[in-house]
Amino acid sequence: MRISLAWIVSVLVLTLCCESRPVVWAQSRCIVATVQPLATDAATAAFVSGGNAIDAAVAAALTLGVVDNHNSGLGGGCFILLRLADGRLVAIEGREMAPAAATRDMYLRDGQVVPELSTIGPLAVGVPGALAAYALVLEKYGQRKLEDLLLPAARIAEEGFAIDGRYAANLAKTASSLARFAATRAVLLKPDGMPYRAGEILKQPDLARSYRQVARHGTDWFYRGPYAQAVGSWMARHEGIVTAADFAHYMARQRKPIVTVYRGYTIVGFPPPSSGGVHVAQILNILENFDLRSLQAKDPVAASHLIVEALKRAFADRAHWLGDADYVDVPRGLIDKSYAARLAQTIDPCRAAKVEAHGNPPQGTSDLFGNRHTTHIAAADSDGNWVAITATVNTSFGSCVIVPGTGIVLNNEMDDFSSQPGTPNAFGLVGAENNAIAPGKRPLSSMSPTLVLQDGQPLLTVGAAGGPTIITQVVLTLLRTIDYGQTLAEAVARPRYHHQWLPDQVLVEQAFPAEWNQGLQHRGHRIEQVDQFGVTQAIGREGGKLIGIHDPRVSGKVGIGIRKKVSDTFLKE
Ligand code: GLY
Repeated sequence: MRISLAWIVSVLVLTLCCESRPVVWAQSRCIVATVQPLATDAATAAFVSGGNAIDAAVAAALTLGVVDNHNSGLGGGCFILLRLADGRLVAIEGREMAPAAATRDMYLRDGQVVPELSTIGPLAVGVPGALAAYALVLEKYGQRKLEDLLLPAARIAEEGFAIDGRYAANLAKTASSLARFAATRAVLLKPDGMPYRAGEILKQPDLARSYRQVARHGTDWFYRGPYAQAVGSWMARHEGIVTAADFAHYMARQRKPIVTVYRGYTIVGFPPPSSGGVHVAQILNILENFDLRSLQAKDPVAASHLIVEALKRAFADRAHWLGDADYVDVPRGLIDKSYAARLAQTIDPCRAAKVEAHGNPPQGTSDLFGNRHTTHIAAADSDGNWVAITATVNTSFGSCVIVPGTGIVLNNEMDDFSSQPGTPNAFGLVGAENNAIAPGKRPLSSMSPTLVLQDGQPLLTVGAAGGPTIITQVVLTLLRTIDYGQTLAEAVARPRYHHQWLPDQVLVEQAFPAEWNQGLQHRGHRIEQVDQFGVTQAIGREGGKLIGIHDPRVSGKVGIGIRKKVSDTFLKE
């Protein structure tokens, strides 16, 4: 059959199955990186069926809600950052929300914080936002319908999948908490109460049913229908406070991305309630005052010392100033270059400083922002759409609550509020008044989906999992590529370090040589060595090609969707 094609171009999309290699180059321009091969496959299948990077990333996110639901899922929240083909920058926020009955001191008993209340069980749950955000981004910028992306994920939930080592380890670690809730026990543990081991098949028929209900009835089934009612009545029977009305009031929000410039590169970050966009920008602004490139070449420990000092100052500000900007004043001055220069002047290049408290950004009351848990998905397509989604249920398996019959793991994002000033949360982060609990407010997050543009064109997208270390992972990836000229693969793979002001210590991956640690200790830093931390995914443009990276610390996957234009000539041959 002849097809007349003057300008009509068919798009054939071939999927290249890219083994679990952490780095994959793409001649074509459709690429995706996630922490789970099945999620990457779902994304490449979305490309194959004509979807764009937004569809691919959402397909991955929905699949992760099945095969990686200890990290993210419909019961959690997410931030979505886009650079659209026409150059627009978009931030869609699906962060969880405190229920209407939440109160500032809800986790205090006799004046003391009871950490378990905000981490396990009904009171830990915030109203989930991920599904609303996925639906919104698809409706506005996708090419596929939500139902088309839900159904393949439902099939995996029903037929089951072999759990990987990381899933099995997290199951084993949380088994006793999971066992406290009947439906959770039935879904995630074996009939004898033991956790599944790596390689064993986990089937989730309830979750499959929930996905199919959303596919059939839309998000109303979740936010205004049977799911919201089931959660509300379960909560009422178990001393929880989330109601069906809280679900009905939930809305994903479109926000204004944070745009700053670092050494000529445009850095696009996520605004509050993420702290990531603000502090990635602030840390880079502080470090712009130093010649990191030559310092790194001469004395890498001296360069790392400066970075640690910048992190410390930014995290001190985070603890004081950051919160949901719809509720509290978050000064724009935090990303002001002159403020960063002031902070940079307080850094002694030879000695660790004791940072006692937050700084005072300019116009702190008048110029305000308007308005190895967790997962990150990076995707880009041939039209020039670039997508960064970070999604979470907070700590492994969130609150450990699954409402019977639903299969959906509910988050424990309420722990990201500061329960009491100065009392650390599950990540050791302290907060202040700005991040206190209030009804309808969204807890502060460290999730930092980030885009880098050069001359208006997308150059890199990066994001990570791992609580507050997310901010540091993103900063290190940017510094290593922009300042040190490392490839994206090196930047992600090389050992990491992190400082979050409190506790006053540098978290250091074991792969650093002893001399490096000693170099920091000589400057007065306390070193806390850990095996590894964090999981970063990234996509970049190197040598005219797209390159996708999944963190070699986990068994993720990069997938490529190749789009071939088929011309008349090609068809005649
Ligand atoms: N739940 C971790 C974060 O959002 O930072």
